[in-house]
Amino acid sequence: MKVRKAVITAAGWGTRFLPITKSQPKEMLPLFDRPLIQYAVEEAIDSGIEQIVIVTAQGKHAIEDYFDRSPELEALLEKKKETKLLKEIRRISSLCDICYIRQKDQLGLGHAVFITRDIVDKEPMAVLLPDDIIDTRTPVIKQMLRVFHRYQATVIAVERVGREEVHKYGIIKANQVQENLYQVVDLVEKPSPEEAPSDLGIVGRYILMPQVFDVLARTRPGRNKEVQLTDALRLLLKEQPIYAYQFEGRRFDAGTPLGWIEASVLLALQHREWGGEFKEYLRSLDLNGKRE
Ligand code: G1P
Repeated sequence: MKVRKAVITAAGWGTRFLPITKSQPKEMLPLFDRPLIQYAVEEAIDSGIEQIVIVTAQGKHAIEDYFDRSPELEALLEKKKETKLLKEIRRISSLCDICYIRQKDQLGLGHAVFITRDIVDKEPMAVLLPDDIIDTRTPVIKQMLRVFHRYQATVIAVERVGREEVHKYGIIKANQVQENLYQVVDLVEKPSPEEAPSDLGIVGRYILMPQVFDVLARTRPGRNKEVQLTDALRLLLKEQPIYAYQFEGRRFDAGTPLGWIEASVLLALQHREWGGEFKEYLRSLDLNGKRE
């Protein structure tokens, strides 16, 4: 079974980033030199995905415009002989076949995935939550596809999050199969430290079997009165195995101001052209935050 399609969810309010997100989609915040969502789009493409479905909502049209052609801008850049910029602008609009579907009511991540069912159409799919930025050599979806092809089953990305953080994540109970790989026994969405069956937290990368749509259709609202993908996976687990993969890479929660700036700093340091200069700038700083 080939995984050709990816769903990227971009319909949330971005409350952790208010007030900026009052009029600006969180997914369009610049993470160093490109919008947050572009990292997820490029990760999917670099993993061999051929079609991307982005779930948006009201006020998110900047995302569609960003990945669309911009003939006037292209003509201007051509006239000004800005060849490098023109190439990049054209590259962005021809990255891949992207279609959009709107989530009209904010009913949760599970619901956002559910509304893509007719587009995904009974195929296994990757799901990426763009807030989770992962710095790694091999894109995480590509790492997970190796597991998927071996087991032909749902694979979710996990990492150890620490007991005090479990309330922010879906948490799994699992048996280790081999290094970095677990077979899931149970899942619970955002438990208290006392309820949590482990400290293995779900990170926003999934390869889902198409039967997830059948279980999502009967998943009732859970935590925060939203339809949770974690709860749907719990139902799916009754019918088929689910694997959890501890990926290689460093994750940032770029949906919060602190995680976002941490990821930006790392990306700036790694930048081929500007990394050196930025490193010098960091060295020159008084790290107590005082002005020299
Ligand atoms: C979602 C999922 C949660 C997962 C997390 C990863 O929560 O519901 O299970 O651990 O993404 O980022 P959210 O962060 O959207 O509240």
